[in-house]
Amino acid sequence: MAGLYRFGISLEKALIDAFDRHIAAQRYKNRSEAIRDLIREALTRRKFAQGGVVAGAIIMTYDHHKRALVDKLLDIQHDFQSLIISTQHVHLDHHHCLEIVAVRGRAREIEKLAYSIKSLVGVKQVGVSIATAGR
Ligand code: NI
Repeated sequence: MAGLYRFGISLEKALIDAFDRHIAAQRYKNRSEAIRDLIREALTRRKFAQGGVVAGAIIMTYDHHKRALVDKLLDIQHDFQSLIISTQHVHLDHHHCLEIVAVRGRAREIEKLAYSIKSLVGVKQVGVSIATAGR
């Protein structure tokens, strides 16, 4: 692979043993892959904290029988239309819906959208999962 760099890391035995158990449980093929992921996660978290552009998903569960909730959710999603790439709706049971909103944009805007959804009566839980936008 072009542009691949190697470097050594010094760690305490207990820490490397714990790391090896962790990467075996996560089914990594080798330490390099696991460390690469840790670095990417740290950089994405930093980018998110600094308000950079990230991709991600807002996951919510709500009771669609709550008065006007679906209309409010749709209004909010239209307000943040430039942020939203796609949505997936799943009917969990007679009352509950699961919705996954894929987003790409500034971290602060993603947070604003998540907070707007969280504030609605009938929304049971909202989670935000962040990934690199690719750059
Ligand atoms: Ni539904």
